[in-house]
Amino acid sequence: MTAPPVELLTARLSLRASDPALAETTADYYRRNREAHARWSPPQADAMFSVDGQRERLAGTAAAIGAGTLVGWWLFAHEAPHHAIGQIHLSQIARGPFCNAMLGYSIDAAHEGRGLMREALEAVLADAFGRVGLHRLQANVRPENLRSLALLQRLGFEREGLAREYLFIDGGWRDHVMTAKRAPGWPADRAPT
Ligand SMILES: CC(C)(COP(=O)(O)OP(=O)(O)OC[C@H]1O[C@@H](n2cnc3c(N)ncnc32)[C@H](O)[C@@H]1OP(=O)(O)O)[C@@H](O)C(=O)NCCC(=O)NCCS
Repeated sequence: MTAPPVELLTARLSLRASDPALAETTADYYRRNREAHARWSPPQADAMFSVDGQRERLAGTAAAIGAGTLVGWWLFAHEAPHHAIGQIHLSQIARGPFCNAMLGYSIDAAHEGRGLMREALEAVLADAFGRVGLHRLQANVRPENLRSLALLQRLGFEREGLAREYLFIDGGWRDHVMTAKRAPGWPADRAPT
């Protein structure tokens, strides 16, 4: 993996790597979307919604990015460059024969339905399968989350199965559809680097 870039650019977005300097806008992002995202994401500690909590979290994320165990991006529209409107994280990055990570993402409820997450994910997938060198990305989604399932399908993720009572979300253990996408063009006999 080459050194992590601090920014990825798309037609409408700038994707910035986690940095404690973003704490005010990321705390605001989580506060604004707390209710809208509660059905799809595990419950968060109160620190997630405070500037101090975010500063600590972003510093930890930046350290993990430097260590190569995580990739984390915050989304900013070109027309409002100081206002975070989404996030994408690749966590649990495994190397060796697995060469896999878990994909998570969310966009501000006010910006759904504009194709922005798809645009951002296309850039993140190109980086994950290129610079980061992953062979496979997994994304697990509640069966009721039709927007997320449609997005993954558009991006070429394939359904692999159903994980029963996979995550505790919104007051109960929730089944998840397991999907994955493999690095395009990676020959079946090419070993991980
Ligand atoms: C899942 C989530 C990221 C999907 O966001 P989204 O905006 O629907 O996804 P996309 O970026 O693919 O946008 C697609 C929509 O934009 C529309 N669109 C408008 N302009 C577009 C453009 N220029 N290009 C592409 N699509 C465009 C599409 O028609 C589509 O609309 P539709 O769903 O009404 O048919 C969002 O719903 C979310 O954050 N949910 C809460 C958190 C969550 O569920 N996270 C995932 C947990 S697994």
